[in-house]
Amino acid sequence: MSGEFERVYGRARSDPEGFWAEAAEALDWDRKWDKVLDDSKAPFYRWFTGGMLNTCHNALDRHVNQGRGDQAALIHDSPVTDSVTTFTYRELRDAVALFAGALADRGVGKGDRVIIYMPMVPEAAIAMLACARIGAVHSVVFGGFAANELAVRIDDCAPRVIVSASCGIEGQRVIAYKPLLDEAIELAAHRPASCIILQRPQETANMTEGRDVEWRAATAAATAHDCVSVAATDPLYILYTSGTTGQPKGVVRDNGGHAVALNWTMKNIYGVEPGEAYWAASDVGWVVGHSYIVYAPLLHGNTSILYEGKPVGTPDAGAFWRVISDHKVAAMFTAPTAFRAIKRDDPEGKRIADYDLSNFRTLFLAGERTDPDTLHWAEDKLGVPVIDHWWQTETGWSICANCIGIEQLPVKEGSPTKPVPGMDVRVLDDACNEVKAGDIGALVIKLPLPPGTFPTLWNAEARFLETYLEEFPGYYKTADAGFIDADGYVYVMSRTDDIINVAGHRLSTGAMEEVLAEHPDVAECAVIGVADALKGQLPLGFLVLNSGVSRDHGEIVKDVVAMVRERIGPVAAFKTATVVNALPKTRSGKILRGTMQKIADSEDHEVPAAIDDPAALDEITRSLTAIGYAKG
Ligand code: COA
Ligand code: AMP
Repeated sequence: MSGEFERVYGRARSDPEGFWAEAAEALDWDRKWDKVLDDSKAPFYRWFTGGMLNTCHNALDRHVNQGRGDQAALIHDSPVTDSVTTFTYRELRDAVALFAGALADRGVGKGDRVIIYMPMVPEAAIAMLACARIGAVHSVVFGGFAANELAVRIDDCAPRVIVSASCGIEGQRVIAYKPLLDEAIELAAHRPASCIILQRPQETANMTEGRDVEWRAATAAATAHDCVSVAATDPLYILYTSGTTGQPKGVVRDNGGHAVALNWTMKNIYGVEPGEAYWAASDVGWVVGHSYIVYAPLLHGNTSILYEGKPVGTPDAGAFWRVISDHKVAAMFTAPTAFRAIKRDDPEGKRIADYDLSNFRTLFLAGERTDPDTLHWAEDKLGVPVIDHWWQTETGWSICANCIGIEQLPVKEGSPTKPVPGMDVRVLDDACNEVKAGDIGALVIKLPLPPGTFPTLWNAEARFLETYLEEFPGYYKTADAGFIDADGYVYVMSRTDDIINVAGHRLSTGAMEEVLAEHPDVAECAVIGVADALKGQLPLGFLVLNSGVSRDHGEIVKDVVAMVRERIGPVAAFKTATVVNALPKTRSGKILRGTMQKIADSEDHEVPAAIDDPAALDEITRSLTAIGYAKG
């Protein structure tokens, strides 16, 4: 209905408490809330204070109780192991209850932390839901991170138990996880009481006597655990995301607001009904995996697909169409980079015709801006609406989207459409004034943020305030820059910090610089994100060596590439660096990373007047040209 979106958006804005209280009625509560929005400690806002519920009950038991027990809840589709495993809601509830018992046997209770370091296996989702069941706080760490990153997270959240697996499978390669876990525990100051390890047939992990127990042994000895009632404001999980330093930020998610908001999004943003199959082709280690592989589809009674494979190579560029067809997927969510990979291998989209996509209604893309080429290719080849939507680990769900379940608005290329109900997006200049339509500025969201977003950072309230709330009082700083056009469509253009986006993965160039700076021959360094046709961006390093270093530059570059892989992980995709005599800086000593990136990507740029050493910028241009960038 025309105007319906404006009506719903307006209602959420004028009466947020009424709007979200109504959405909350869809869930089971052990005790109703005293206050929908508690602003008594603003700018720390809390949703549904006084309310008690259990997220796992709402995601599983509630559906079994309401007659959905025999419906598929989770389908593990794994081309890399040539297997498909389906769990009904009843089977998933029982598996989760048993694993919850195994965690409780190891002393895990309400508020205790559990780290989950696992590949894309159903046990990862089972472990997450089992934590939710007993009120424990999970922190899933993405498998592509190195031992050091895992160690940092172990020390920050001090888990009682770590759940892991013997290996992951990346395409054709078996990647052993357990040695990385053992190394991380060695590196960390905190020691978990125990580790529960899923032994996979492809690799058998060595177990540490007295600390490690096999998943199957732990569950065989356990009894099913009931859901534990928790406060709506209690933490459900911590998800670490890149900040501007090597110290990641622990984004906290609560139980009540999260369940309410995510359940609401399934119908209103994604336009799916309970019972339909929904597929987010991401990883449980990212926020997309938390929200849209595990929690939202299950809260809403959908069938969720957990896909252990890649868009290409497992076995070919028809993999996505095969999954959509086999499981009758109604809506799919992935990153544009996955579509660029498919388009590269099958430019004509010929493989699409091999599959029955008659149930498929909508494609959702996020993680990075959807480039017009990818948008049009997907629209043309699939013949369904392609919806770009913008969100962040911090927000947990969309900031802007085309809410097709409310009213499908016209698509404008390059825009994730409009702020969704609950999100009041503004564009501000440096002096905190709103700019006029079409002008670029900082994208911010007026406080309070809606339910389901992050109430704080784990053990870091001061950092929460300083990073997100202080620069623009009264607003949440997204750290994205962009503009809003005269029709209210939002355009997200770039980050305002050092974050780059590599294959839909968020990475900090500052964290990579910290690693490069540790090389004994490196005096100074800079890392920038350069445009890449497949991954969107790739990191590129510049090294200034200590005087007197006579080692071969190629060897030093090899060292630093290995160091980033070893310290941050393969996911950083740091493969290129170049040695220069000096880094271009302003007279106040600020490295001109933005200008370097524009030169590399052959974008228009102005050279700042107050530059320290103009020759350094010329040298950067020459070295970029020598390695295939800055083509003019
Ligand atoms: N465990 C261990 N290693 C992992 C891993 C995991 N879970 N995930 C990725 N890696 C490794 C990869 O094997 C690769 O290692 P390599 O340098 O030895 O080849 C490296 O990390 C980089 O991985 P990735 O960025 O995924 O690149 P890729 O070349 O393997 O695949 C794409 C590229 C585009 C196909 C893939 O990134 C993709 O499907 N992305 C879209 C979906 C997505 O994940 N979006 C995230 C948010 S929605
Ligand atoms: P993450 O926290 O990993 O989800 O990354 C969030 C960041 O990815 C955002 O701040 C944006 O910079 C970028 N991003 C995510 N989705 C989009 C989108 N649809 N358009 C533009 N940028 C996006």
